[in-house]
Amino acid sequence: MPDFSDRLIACMAQANRVTAFTGAGISAESGVPTFRGTDGLWSKFRPEELANMDAFMRNPQLVWEWYAHRKRVIADVQPNPGHIALVRMEEFFTHFGVITQNIDNLHRRAGSRTVYELHGNIERNYCMECGKPATNEEVLRQGGVPRCGSCGGVVRPDVVWFGEMLPEDEWDHAVRAAESSDVFLSIGTSAVVYPAASLPLLAKDHGAYLVEVNPEPTPLTDRADEFLQGPAGVILPALMHALEETRAADGAAHPPGD
Ligand code: APR
Repeated sequence: MPDFSDRLIACMAQANRVTAFTGAGISAESGVPTFRGTDGLWSKFRPEELANMDAFMRNPQLVWEWYAHRKRVIADVQPNPGHIALVRMEEFFTHFGVITQNIDNLHRRAGSRTVYELHGNIERNYCMECGKPATNEEVLRQGGVPRCGSCGGVVRPDVVWFGEMLPEDEWDHAVRAAESSDVFLSIGTSAVVYPAASLPLLAKDHGAYLVEVNPEPTPLTDRADEFLQGPAGVILPALMHALEETRAADGAAHPPGD
């Protein structure tokens, strides 16, 4: 069981608003490959060939083969104790939200309600001509380069490719959450892809207690107030357990009407 500092537990026990910022690392224990790890996707595939509009224009078949493969991999995995711990945090704190860079939809599948998706969602697709949504079932049934059922236009996955703007609403929510957090948890991200990677420091500059959860140090580690070194699926449930124990002890020490 990891040890947590008194300062971290006190900060979180008193916190009104807590925000979790997640990257591919939180889904690693579910079996979803990360991007920049030793077996990461970018060690096998070239993002410039698969995750930008030029690549899609050049070879939509190749890009769709890759996304169809990722859709199948993600459909076969389950949320892990790290995702579940964030669902419990949403019940525990007055104000809690998840800002995620992940497109795997595992936070929602775990039961998180407040989720801001900065890079889209692999369970959604849309027509590039008329904007009509298409389900994964439809696009995977069609195979190849799927076409819109209404106008015949080319359908693309609803994910943010390199060089594309982040969805404005989600970004605005994420910035507001970062600026108003008492505690900001940066979980399972290498913190190198911008603008998302600017959020932890934005939160810290607005007074948040910045906590990083990662088995490896990142460029953010030196700026974090706490570095919880280890896998999210172990650290987060243990942190939740410590917070629940603290609240129970406080409750016993100060019963209602005390
Ligand atoms: N628990 C917590 N962190 C983990 C775990 C784990 N079990 N396993 C690995 N990690 C950490 C790694 O040490 C690494 O720092 O997760 C991080 C994953 O980093 P990346 O692979 O770079 O993923 P991410 O930060 O989410 O990438 C950001 O880049 O490729 C684009 O759009 C893509 O959203 C993605 C963005």
